[in-house]
Amino acid sequence: MTSSPTLPYRIGFGEDAHRLSGGRPLILGGVPIPNAEKGAVAHSDGDAVLHALADALLSGLALGDIGQYFPDTDAAHKGLDSAVIVARALDLVQERGYVPANVALVVTLDKPKLGPLRAAIAQNVALLLGLPESEVGVSFKTSEGLAPDHVQTRVTLLLVRSA
Ligand code: C5P
Ligand code: MG
Repeated sequence: MTSSPTLPYRIGFGEDAHRLSGGRPLILGGVPIPNAEKGAVAHSDGDAVLHALADALLSGLALGDIGQYFPDTDAAHKGLDSAVIVARALDLVQERGYVPANVALVVTLDKPKLGPLRAAIAQNVALLLGLPESEVGVSFKTSEGLAPDHVQTRVTLLLVRSA
């Protein structure tokens, strides 16, 4: 970035996907999914919601993406708790004088049904961002059987200038 950001509001958007395979945990938004038969194949903990959330934070200020800060070729990042990635992205946003105001996230996953975990995911994402739960919208979609071994996430958020 060549000049300091001055807009009162900035939109961020992030996306992530992981292949699903048996015998692995599935973690979404920091919440372990108890009845998942398959989990994410990943270098970190494979939390596709938190990866997309971190990218949404970074993108709002044109700060690139999480691969630049946490390369998946670095052995130090193996099994990394994705909450650490979100905390780093949030720090970078706050250092530039912005805070998140609200978040909308979508998870596309065929199985299991995530509806019963909607509040838990919203609460955890809200906690990570320092927001009330009412500012975190959580939607679930199936792929209608088109991608049964796949989890896809999309996150958009609004950043507000605080300083
Ligand atoms: O994708 P589709 O429109 O078929 O989703 C139907 C409903 O199933 C939605 O209300 C959604 O909240 C829910 N759902 C869910 N868990 C998923 C996928 C969809 O609870 N893994
Ligand atoms: Mg990921």
